[in-house]
Amino acid sequence: MLRIMPQPVSRLKLAVLASGRGSNFEALQREIEENALPAVIQVVISDREQAPVLEKARRLGIPALYINPGQFADRQQYEQELVRVCEAYEVELVVLAGYMRILGETFIRSYLWRIINIHPALLPSFPGLNAQRQAVEYGVRFSGCTVHFVDQGVDTGPIILQAVVPVYPDDDEESLSQRILKEEHRLLPQAVRLIAEGRLELNGRKVNILP
Ligand code: GRF
Repeated sequence: MLRIMPQPVSRLKLAVLASGRGSNFEALQREIEENALPAVIQVVISDREQAPVLEKARRLGIPALYINPGQFADRQQYEQELVRVCEAYEVELVVLAGYMRILGETFIRSYLWRIINIHPALLPSFPGLNAQRQAVEYGVRFSGCTVHFVDQGVDTGPIILQAVVPVYPDDDEESLSQRILKEEHRLLPQAVRLIAEGRLELNGRKVNILP
């Protein structure tokens, strides 16, 4: 059994990796400021120069870096740079919040069980892209979101928390996405809190939540 963050640290140092809008980043930062989540976002990293998340972070005075994957010879070198930056910022937990790239061995090995992701579906249903659209098209009655540890697969890592929302007959991708997003904003900070408090234990692919 592997205890994640066995010694609760006073403030867990985070990197947020994001490719777009950054509402999950904002929710996390809000929880830190307003509800004493014992964490600090050391750096926000994006693979897209125009990602609104970068501007949002800068406005809050948080270091925000665009790292262009295209400037590296291959994925390994790009990920080595990600590791270098995270180490420079003394990152303890990497939070993927709408980060649209699949991370490979180089990064995952360096931060094994120190990377979490938020996915807008109830995994293992609807992994990958356009999860909300997949759920609407499939005709499920319920969907939701999942926070999980990141392993080598696509959205396959051990599940930390899930939240369920109903899917209504007249839902489209947009309306369902909005309903799920509200839950994401609650769930992601909650998962970070559990880790910051040293309350997660990994048993195979099962995550135990300690009292
Ligand atoms: C969220 O729906 C997240 O689950 C998915 O990408 C979206 C990111 O939204 N992985 P935001 O950039 O946090 O607003």
